[in-house]
Amino acid sequence: GKGSAMVTAVAYRFAAQQAERQRILDTLRLSRNQLLEVKERMNEEMARGLSKQTHEQASIKMLPTYVRSTPDGTEHGDFLALDLGGSSFRVLLVQVRSGTKSNVDMHHKIYSIPQETMQGTAEELFDHIVDCIADFLKYRDMRGVSLPLGFTFSFPCHQSKLDQGILLRWTKGFKASGCEGHDVVSLLKDAVRRKQEFDLNFVAVVNDTVGTMMTCSYEDPKCEVGLIVGTGTNACYMEEMHNIELVEGDSGLMCVNMEWGAFGEGGELDDFCTQFDRVVDACSSNPGKQRYEKMISGMYLGEIVRNVLLDFTAKGLLFRGKLSERLKTHGIFETKFLTQIEKDRLAMRQIRSILQHLGLTSSTCDDSVVVKEVCSVVARRAAQLCGAGLAAVIDKIRQNRNLNQLSITVGVDGTLYKTHPHFSSIMQETLQDLAPQCQVTFHKSEDGSGKGAALITAVACRIMTQDNN
Ligand code: GLC
Repeated sequence: GKGSAMVTAVAYRFAAQQAERQRILDTLRLSRNQLLEVKERMNEEMARGLSKQTHEQASIKMLPTYVRSTPDGTEHGDFLALDLGGSSFRVLLVQVRSGTKSNVDMHHKIYSIPQETMQGTAEELFDHIVDCIADFLKYRDMRGVSLPLGFTFSFPCHQSKLDQGILLRWTKGFKASGCEGHDVVSLLKDAVRRKQEFDLNFVAVVNDTVGTMMTCSYEDPKCEVGLIVGTGTNACYMEEMHNIELVEGDSGLMCVNMEWGAFGEGGELDDFCTQFDRVVDACSSNPGKQRYEKMISGMYLGEIVRNVLLDFTAKGLLFRGKLSERLKTHGIFETKFLTQIEKDRLAMRQIRSILQHLGLTSSTCDDSVVVKEVCSVVARRAAQLCGAGLAAVIDKIRQNRNLNQLSITVGVDGTLYKTHPHFSSIMQETLQDLAPQCQVTFHKSEDGSGKGAALITAVACRIMTQDNN
């Protein structure tokens, strides 16, 4: 009768919508062959970044860090560390005792950097940083002492020695003018001079990946790779000096800050990009840049999800086709949301309440299922892409050493990696599949960037005293 015809029509429409959503989500699903291709292209870009001839054009800069040795456990002393470039700015006092390893005490204070300061001038930014240091010294009752200082500055820097770093470009939404092309140590020294309250003794500029690797290798000497999956994503590893053409000398190893977030700027990822990736890129503060990072890290995944949801809604495939103002707002889906919604034991009603919290009040139970699936597809792709990149890095280390099998540890940090319920397992699965000759252990680092800067400073100080004796 009429009733059953209507039921059939509804069922038919339901199935058609489901098929349409899957067709769109399929563009965000990567095959094994595509992932192998990503690994292959990453490998090529690494070689191009390392070679003098191709370095300029290469999307991955493979920056030398002048970190050549890992801690040997004899380093000791008190160090100051600054940490800029993650989710917060911190000043740290790190006390390293020699002898037994992992004997490190840390005290830190978190400071906020107002949006206006982040997007103001170099002077404003560095004066603010120096004010924070002054506050910290006062708070720790340390005015007048001049400790060796390590600066974790998590942006691409050109280094020609350990205590200098010329900012190549801002990433992750930072914007302060007058910094790009300048040595961040000089900028900070100038600000200290302007303040006329204390002196600082700069020893090292350190990328967060390098700090993370160092912290981890302090406990596990097999750790020769550092990985960050947080606001941004990046990796570093110990490379053979003879492969680093930008630095004189052929013997031993040096840590290379890959700046792999920039992968794809030469079109290497165009085949795998979706319309959503292109919108996220175009609406970011650095269009055309950091394409790989924009498919992987916490600052962008929520935006990809939001754009898929917008598209679904506009096509009548979600939220009964009603576009809310909330959904049109840039940045509403933070990492927190992505990690909450995929928690396995979360009931649908809890997802609904998360959505309601986001102002998406008209959502139904079916909507919740759809939103969760979108989150899961976007996060899976991110984890797989990250695993494919890592496979390239680790296989290169294996080939460097002419080994059939390599066993190695990766030190990891970053909120997305640490809090997402599935990211790390999907990434490891992909890595295992694409680099079967490597046994990789992952070691989550506790506060790698702050502690690492201090450890690098400590190693440098140890070597300086040795050289002077
Ligand atoms: C961005 C920065 C890089 C940093 C990474 C993780 O990619 O350019 O230097 O390591 O974020 O914080």
